Amino acid sequence: MNMQNITSVRDIDVSGKRVLVRVDFNVPLKDGKIENDVRIKAALPTLKLLIERGASSIVVLTHLGRPKTPDDQATRVAPVAQRLRELLNAPQIAVHENLRFDPREETNDPVFAQELASLGDVYVNDAFSNSHRNHASMVGLPALLPSAAGLGLLAEVAHLEPALTPPPGSVALIGGAKFETKVPLIKKLLALYSEVLLGGALANDVIKARGLPFGASLVSQTPVPADIAADEHLVVPTDAIFAENSSNAERSGLVVDIRANEGIIDIGPATAKLWVEKISQAPFVLWNGPMGIYEQGYRDGTDVLAAALAASAVPAVVGGGDTAAAVEKYTFDPSKVFVSTGGGAMLEFLVTGTLPGIEALRH
Ligand code: 3PG
Repeated sequence: MNMQNITSVRDIDVSGKRVLVRVDFNVPLKDGKIENDVRIKAALPTLKLLIERGASSIVVLTHLGRPKTPDDQATRVAPVAQRLRELLNAPQIAVHENLRFDPREETNDPVFAQELASLGDVYVNDAFSNSHRNHASMVGLPALLPSAAGLGLLAEVAHLEPALTPPPGSVALIGGAKFETKVPLIKKLLALYSEVLLGGALANDVIKARGLPFGASLVSQTPVPADIAADEHLVVPTDAIFAENSSNAERSGLVVDIRANEGIIDIGPATAKLWVEKISQAPFVLWNGPMGIYEQGYRDGTDVLAAALAASAVPAVVGGGDTAAAVEKYTFDPSKVFVSTGGGAMLEFLVTGTLPGIEALRH
């Protein structure tokens, strides 16, 4: 991506200034407790830099969840503000209440952007993972103030750009659901990568499109385009874990042997073994999305691949909440494996090579 005309936070004068920092502290919360604070930690380098450089005040802006009104107590920023204080106790930092309590955030309302702009002299975007959102704090606000890219956002771009020019023999691994929303991504990856390995419900759609039995597996209503289904570089699991509809009884078997009352819930052990070999031998691996129904606890396939990737010395970029969390369970070399904070933002960046929140920083 052309980063010309985008200023780094390192190159702006913040001394004595009030700085607005848009971060993405949209972290998983359970009963008010933060389950994963990676996104909060990712903002620390930028916040520390601003303090070192003498910013007079720092207002941290974030959304949390998808609330529509301030009545939603479960999405107040208090837990993330508390966690930030534990990680970086600086009197000049204040965390603004959840931006999405005001519906004008998501409609990119110009008056709301003005109101936010009045809180600072300078704007910094360190919210890569929300930069695909055309919201007031992402695109309206930077047009009103001198603006810059934060260190986290710059690191994401620096690692994701090379994923668009991978060396020959590279492998992409994509999981998740809703094939119809991922058609541009999969087309693009098929053009760039030697193999695209599909897991999750995405694989079910291709299995169906290839005329193979898929039992009661979750599939999209929209058919997979024929040219994609026919592409031999698009690889789907040959064996899987099946769950029986009524009893939930599990077994593993060849996909071609699935029964009518069974659904695919994860990749099978033979597929996992083969895919471990593929990723361990690749010069570069890109991975977004779990291989099984991760949120329901079907994690084995994803975990086997995550462990193998972490143990290998293969350069990789990994993203998406569940996938990132799976890799982070293992010890890995951060100079080899880059864990993106982005889920949807990472995928959109891979398709378009930029994001609205990044473009809004151009002068
Ligand atoms: C994310 O978690 O992907 C971002 O914070 C965006 O959140 P959203 O999908 O609710 O817009």
